[in-house]
Amino acid sequence: MNNSAKHPVVLITGAAVRLGAATARLLHLHGYNIIIHCNKSVTDATSLSDELNQQRENSATVLQANLSDMNAVTELGKQSIATWGQLDVLINNASAFYPTPLAEISQSQWDELFASNARAPLFLAQACAQALTQQEGCIINISDLYAQRGLSNHSIYTMAKAAQEAMTRSLARELAPKVRVNGIAPGAILWPPGEELSEEKKQAIINNASLKKMGAPEDIANAVLFLLEKGSYITGQVIHVDGGR
Ligand SMILES: NC(=O)c1ccc[n+]([C@@H]2O[C@H](COP(=O)([O-])OP(=O)(O)OC[C@H]3O[C@@H](n4cnc5c(N)ncnc54)[C@H](OP(=O)(O)O)[C@@H]3O)[C@@H](O)[C@H]2O)c1
Repeated sequence: MNNSAKHPVVLITGAAVRLGAATARLLHLHGYNIIIHCNKSVTDATSLSDELNQQRENSATVLQANLSDMNAVTELGKQSIATWGQLDVLINNASAFYPTPLAEISQSQWDELFASNARAPLFLAQACAQALTQQEGCIINISDLYAQRGLSNHSIYTMAKAAQEAMTRSLARELAPKVRVNGIAPGAILWPPGEELSEEKKQAIINNASLKKMGAPEDIANAVLFLLEKGSYITGQVIHVDGGR
């Protein structure tokens, strides 16, 4: 990355809570200015932004957009660049996630799951490509270990993440040599908010990881920081941060 800017600017989608918020906090600690994108979690996003701005003045801001809305996606890209007049990093982290058993699949589920996990990442990359090229910046797409393995009752989500991984590899070629494009595929880090899993099921998932434990949001944030700061010869890769699943 071109580190001439004092505070490189990063747009993190879905950054109000959970993995996105942990990534925002770590990158902020390392001098980045943070654009916290959110959709419904405006209150959480605002308090995270306040927290970061208290640590360093004018270092964080909130942009709200529903990534299912194509106009909102393009506008998010434009506003992100306009905020500090540059954009160094795009992190496509926002994601809708819920089960879609084959017998009950509807087109609206397809549209919603593909919108946040595959379509918006592509069109945000399009909206930001010129600015990222100018800064010799990076795109990081947050995927899922199940993009390659498959997950019962979640075919649309896993298909969308697999599409996103294909995009990572194609854009890595297309935006080279100025912009590096990589992915991170987390394993079990935080249990999904809307899906009740039994203790037995949770234990089975944990036991499937070679390291026999869950990861922490900071493990994903650290992988992001590594790709940005130390990964200058890495592009087109999807790094699994999944405890050896
Ligand atoms: N948690 C894990 O263990 C795990 C495992 C594997 C992969 N991952 C991947 O890691 C990333 C972060 O995981 P997470 O668990 O922290 O995610 P999450 O909490 O489930 O979702 C992150 C954010 O995505 C946003 N989002 C969803 N649909 C949206 C839409 N249509 N428009 C705009 N924003 C939308 C939501 O923002 P609002 O709340 O503002 O609406 C939400 O807070 C995701 O890409 C996920 O697939 C996570």
